[in-house]
Amino acid sequence: MGLQIWRLDAALGATVSNIDLSRPLDAGAVAAVRAAWLEHIVLVFPDQDLTDRQLLDFTRYFGELEFPPSKLLNYSQGSGQKADIPLEINVISNVIEDGKKIGQLGASEAKWHTDTPFVERPPSASVLHALEIPPHGGNTSFMNMYAVLEGLPPPLRARIEGRYCKHDVSHTSDGVLRHDYDESKDASECPGPLHPLIRTHPETGREALYLGKRAWAFIEGLPLAESEAVLDEIWDIATRPEFLYEHVWTQGDIVMWDNRCAMHRREAFDASARRIMHRSQLQGDVPA
Ligand code: SIN
Repeated sequence: MGLQIWRLDAALGATVSNIDLSRPLDAGAVAAVRAAWLEHIVLVFPDQDLTDRQLLDFTRYFGELEFPPSKLLNYSQGSGQKADIPLEINVISNVIEDGKKIGQLGASEAKWHTDTPFVERPPSASVLHALEIPPHGGNTSFMNMYAVLEGLPPPLRARIEGRYCKHDVSHTSDGVLRHDYDESKDASECPGPLHPLIRTHPETGREALYLGKRAWAFIEGLPLAESEAVLDEIWDIATRPEFLYEHVWTQGDIVMWDNRCAMHRREAFDASARRIMHRSQLQGDVPA
């Protein structure tokens, strides 16, 4: 029996079963996964047991590997990641070993965000492998950005049509000021690239809303107060449950999402529990 794909009872997402991602995939399986990823935006592969190299091999079926933000931004202090972990792997973890953090994002909430929108060519996909999960909390929710755009009232959509948003590079998605950056006076002054608020997905041809993150976002060309008001109005709509899927992790899950038309949020969890996830990324296009 070949792989099976089951749509989740949510605004996005599907489960893919009867597939072992640690083994080479044939062309038919790769095509089926790609088609499902483009259609469902988020794919859940339960019960996978992969090394980092196998995770990277699986990711490579869908494009060129991208480096994590610490490497893309060339952090002067490095990422702190252990030397035996491939450079393309982004360790997301709250664990501290020998007094050093082994990964990023800690145990607090990682607020709604797109991965790495603060570069000219943000990644097209992220693939997250759950190696250790806490007994409670740390769920990851996903947002369908095609559906959010379709759900905007026409007058609100008209206010952002053709406009660009500044994607602040100086703060992480858990709100921490990155090494090597200074705090800005307000969102209009933050460093970061401009991307269109409405982008066309290069593979599906569908339009999606592209928000990045709420904090420090700025709609270029508007007075700051107006930009804040428009963004608040959009975010109130975007975070409605009708646009979301919440993933409750089981160890061994692999979740792959389309970063061009999804955002995600990781809820907080008990900092004394261990959570270790390894993430790979695919290179993307300049949003257009
Ligand atoms: C991420 O933002 O990529 C991490 C999500 C998670 O920790 O579940």
